[in-house]
Amino acid sequence: MAFKTLAALLTVVATLQVTSAALTKRVACPDGKNTATNAACCPLFALRDDLQKSLFNNGACNAEAHEALRLTFHDGIAISNKTGNHGGADGSIMIFDKIETAYHPNIGLDEVVASQKPIQARHPDVNPADFIQFAGALAVSNCPGAPQLPFFVGRKVATAAAPDGLVPEPFHSVERILDRFADAGPVGFEDVEVVWALSAHTIAAANDVDPTTPGTPFDSTPAIFDTQFFLETQLHGTTFTGSGKVKGEHKSAIKGEMRLASDHKLARHNRTACEWQSFVNNPQKLHDRFIDAWLKISLLGQDQDLLTDCTEVIPVPKTIDVQATFPPTLSNKNVEQACADTPFPTLASAPGPATSIPPIQR
Ligand code: HEM
Ligand SMILES: *[C@@H]1O[C@H](CO)[C@@H](O)[C@H](O)[C@H]1NC(C)=O
Ligand SMILES: *[C@@H]1O[C@H](CO)[C@@H](O)[C@H](O)[C@H]1NC(C)=O
Repeated sequence: MAFKTLAALLTVVATLQVTSAALTKRVACPDGKNTATNAACCPLFALRDDLQKSLFNNGACNAEAHEALRLTFHDGIAISNKTGNHGGADGSIMIFDKIETAYHPNIGLDEVVASQKPIQARHPDVNPADFIQFAGALAVSNCPGAPQLPFFVGRKVATAAAPDGLVPEPFHSVERILDRFADAGPVGFEDVEVVWALSAHTIAAANDVDPTTPGTPFDSTPAIFDTQFFLETQLHGTTFTGSGKVKGEHKSAIKGEMRLASDHKLARHNRTACEWQSFVNNPQKLHDRFIDAWLKISLLGQDQDLLTDCTEVIPVPKTIDVQATFPPTLSNKNVEQACADTPFPTLASAPGPATSIPPIQR
């Protein structure tokens, strides 16, 4: 394209700017403070501020933040293609909390729902189904290194409790876990997507697997969204934290750490081991694939086309620049290589003597 004069070119540029401004026209929210691309997102600003203040200790990746992420999964995964795809991310775990938090895999979530429910009640414009997923996406944004998770609003809510038996347990076999995920929704999850979803365990701890040691983290950096979880689960296990072997637990390589038997086996099974290893020291992949897997969980049982994208309300998490490292005194020698295709990446070991990871305080 040739422009006869500079003025003609500037006119074209101005026209393009007007067009793009029209496309991104924002609405003023009734709160008088915020604007949004869609009015449906407006109630989320006040909810965000309330959650940060009353649950997440002013924006921390704390125990409540971890629990909020766990709750997104336990609400969402409760859907089965075999029985007609009722349920999913429909808020049933909060609406029918007396029923669902009594199910064994939901142990501990009674307290989480109890702390979230009054906050939802203060924000009745955000229904329980949206509330749970929003709280989880916001929680993750408090963890340095995390991706900004996509959040959509407008879910339809549960009219019945989900049945028991749909949430995987740490003592289940790999086959049973992969079958359960494959049956979640009309599409289901492929084996690799299950690995992607388990990135969540990089910001996680167990309170009830071994109740004698609540707050036992799954990796050495439970307040950072990094790839240490995928590395540390691949190490030869040597120690139990707490009362010794309990159901669903495998020895971990670091004192103070909890290794779920399910994570241990998924890291070593030939359907999942190579995907598991591929995350070690690959934060970009961790971001991209966790966004995919979590969005899918957060939309189970819902039609995305009927929802509104409100990702703009989720803060952009702090970035970090860290290399995955072996814990002090451990090295590539301690890796239980399971992926047959590619060697485990060569990484440095953290300096100093062996340490014990402190429990997460409530
Ligand atoms: C094979 C599938 C999974 C199994 C067997 C499993 C099992 C568990 C168990 C036993 C705990 C400890 C609960 C406690 O004692 O307090 C836990 C914690 C957690 N899980 Fe999973 N999980 C699975 C998948 C997922 C997925 C897909 C997500 C999220 C997308 C997730 C998020 C979390 C989080 C954030 C915690 C930490 C909660 C806290 O720190 O209090 N999990 N999981
Ligand atoms: C869901 O169920 C239908 C009908 O039984 C079946 O044809 C389809 O393959 C199932 N989808 C998955 C992911 O299992
Ligand atoms: C995994 O191993 C089992 C037996 O150990 C074998 O039957 C199966 O074909 C293997 N699967 C893959 C994907 O390599």
